[in-house]
Amino acid sequence: MTAIYDNPGKFKRIDVRPLNSAIGAEIHGIDLSAPLDDATWGEVQQAFYDYLVVYFPDQALTHAQHQAFSQRFGSLMDMPQLHQVDGFDRIHIIKRDANDNGRVVGESWHADSTYFECPPAAVVMRAVTVPEFGGDTGFLSMYAAYETLSPRMRTMLDSLQVVHSATRIYGSAYHAQKKKFSAGSAKLDLDIEAGDREMVHPLVCTHPGSGRRFLFVNQVYAQRFEGMTEAESRPLLQFLYDHSARFEHTCRVRWKKDQVLIWDNRCAMHKAIPDYIGRDRYMTRTTIAGDRPR
Ligand code: SIN
Repeated sequence: MTAIYDNPGKFKRIDVRPLNSAIGAEIHGIDLSAPLDDATWGEVQQAFYDYLVVYFPDQALTHAQHQAFSQRFGSLMDMPQLHQVDGFDRIHIIKRDANDNGRVVGESWHADSTYFECPPAAVVMRAVTVPEFGGDTGFLSMYAAYETLSPRMRTMLDSLQVVHSATRIYGSAYHAQKKKFSAGSAKLDLDIEAGDREMVHPLVCTHPGSGRRFLFVNQVYAQRFEGMTEAESRPLLQFLYDHSARFEHTCRVRWKKDQVLIWDNRCAMHKAIPDYIGRDRYMTRTTIAGDRPR
């Protein structure tokens, strides 16, 4: 596995503090409320490629500043299942109230909307209200997941394609189950047929920015391998989910008010940890448009 911490002196304009050797870094010495000069922006982008998940404490941004910083990464896209902030149709809300008993949005390891033809490249999330305990987000590196497999296994996986859909999020599989999402974040009245629509992507993809190979599969949207039944696919999919989620591939980010974080939605997965029962949590997020995975 490529170690990401081993780059002394690489960053001159920002103070980058890695969380571990697989994924995640905290960044200081920067003010995201003002436009960044090109050299500083170049270092932020490099840190994002190197660490997959980078976060910036103490950035009291307005919605307009959040949007402007996000647009440095690319164009912003809609997320049909999330509510929007009034007056900002490209800023979405992740919200759970103290008295909410519904399912937390994103509580299983996943990447966002991998059933789209062009899934998001990245997400920029801002913490508005955080519980005094709990509510962290977990992240894991799908580079590490791929690179720690045996060469024989990697060769076998390289030729597989995965069928993705949102059936368990808003399609017929969602409507067949009892426990529904918390109404604070998710829209519950989406087109069931659209939720069941299927999209095929390679299991192993190459990142357009870093050139590194990563596994592109997650238990929320993956249904089966193309050309195989669900029963035939299940054992290998389950192995890949368990292998990906090994602790040494992960980091866990504690949120503080006014923290801004960007995660790479291609080569990283994330998981909202539902351990703040009886507390409010309110985040806003923008979603950066991506290319078709290859
Ligand atoms: C998400 O999956 O978009 C939510 C992540 C979080 O709330 O920590």
